[in-house]
Amino acid sequence: MKKVILALCVVMVMAGCAFSEPVKLPEPDKNCPMSLTEALTFRRTDRDFSEEDLTLQELSNLLWAAGGVNRPDGKLVYPVAMGKQDTAIYAFTREGVSKYDPKSHSLEITAEGDHRAETGMQPFVAKAAVNLAYVHDASLWEDMKAPEELVRRWGFAHTGAVMQNVYLYCAAAGWNCVVRGSFDADNLAKLMKLSPSQSITLIHTVGKRPKN
Ligand SMILES: Cc1cc2nc3c(=O)[nH]c(=O)nc-3n(C[C@H](O)[C@H](O)[C@H](O)COP(=O)(O)O)c2cc1C
Repeated sequence: MKKVILALCVVMVMAGCAFSEPVKLPEPDKNCPMSLTEALTFRRTDRDFSEEDLTLQELSNLLWAAGGVNRPDGKLVYPVAMGKQDTAIYAFTREGVSKYDPKSHSLEITAEGDHRAETGMQPFVAKAAVNLAYVHDASLWEDMKAPEELVRRWGFAHTGAVMQNVYLYCAAAGWNCVVRGSFDADNLAKLMKLSPSQSITLIHTVGKRPKN
């Protein structure tokens, strides 16, 4: 169960860096045992989770599939309007809260400790390996002077794309997941030290299936 913690510590000790330094994730494994049409067939919500953590490799695979870079020019696995990568992915795991940086494929730890239980009211959120919070930042559009309503709608479109990537990856990996619109946004914004321009759009609970 402590595979991710151990791997993070080993990486940090080897790199001689402090706990708050970004953690470089291993290269994502892009070999998929399932075709896209099979993943579409098996995509579903299932709220039954084991308490098993994901390994660092598994977290790497998941985050890359969710919103990683797939081309040398830095563009992502999902399309974004006007090139504005305004939707960040935060991972709540047993050991802390981290922000995913797609460019460097690394995690920046923003809060230590297990805060999974704070991501929702449903009991499984504290048990599943990871809760991914999708965070939209409207300030990235300030230079465009785009109407607020448009920025909001396009932000939700970006979240929707990430959400479906995660659903499909979970189907392919044989994991369970549920995207959630119910959570205490104010409490989480404080914990995550979000600025007023940032808002959590959805939270996606992901984890392995119970053994039996
Ligand atoms: C925007 C959105 C918000 C949702 N919020 C919640 C939620 O707060 N809690 C929950 O258990 N499920 C939530 N769900 C999951 C839906 O209940 C689930 O997708 C729906 O029952 C359809 O099931 P399926 O995903 O297997 O097709 C949400 C789904 C979406 C798309």
